[in-house]
Amino acid sequence: MSSNIVWHEASIGKEERREKNNHQSFILWFTGLSASGKSSIANSLARALFERGNQSFVLDGDNIRHGLNKDLGFDEDSRKENIRRIGEVSKLFVESGQIVLTAFISPYQEDRDVVRSLVAEGEFIEVYVKCSVEECERRDPKGLYKKARNEEIKNFTGISAPYEAPVNPEIVVDSEQFTIEECTEQLIEFLTSKNYIK
Ligand code: PPS
Repeated sequence: MSSNIVWHEASIGKEERREKNNHQSFILWFTGLSASGKSSIANSLARALFERGNQSFVLDGDNIRHGLNKDLGFDEDSRKENIRRIGEVSKLFVESGQIVLTAFISPYQEDRDVVRSLVAEGEFIEVYVKCSVEECERRDPKGLYKKARNEEIKNFTGISAPYEAPVNPEIVVDSEQFTIEECTEQLIEFLTSKNYIK
């Protein structure tokens, strides 16, 4: 890092922005296998938050890999860098007073913990989207599990690359047992009961 750079304080702090928005700003970090329902639940929750007048935005793995992170692959170092960048972007969203919903496999606990350490206590909510690899493979909406089984895709999470389930997530949504709508409702209840939103 260059030694000739100086941090500039923002003229509007996150507390002031939160007050104006009438809700807290924080990261809802969805983690889970491919096809577990991360994006679907994050987008459904974003809609529910929008309708309640809350400011939120979804950052989605597939989408971010089309732009900001299109130089990254799926080896361990690339995934680490993917999550590191998204962590930094997410922190900016928190500073901007918004709720950021991130939908990345983020298979390594260590990488998720790095993001947690970037923000203040309570600003990182780890959401484990629980779904067995068997069910994800049965769903296989993009045909990626089939390709992974045929070795057309290497390092595929759950098949030929690891997934470390969260050790102590703030909340678990079970997308195998419950619908997208039920998982969304569970998250809204969690956020209101903890005073993240009104
Ligand atoms: S990670 O592990 O957090 O860096 O991955 P992420 O940025 O969330 O990207 C996951 C999406 O990329 C597609 N894809 C793969 N996933 C896992 N392993 C391999 N090898 C792979 N190759 C491509 C896949 O569509 C993932 O999207 P989701 O929404 O999770 O199914």
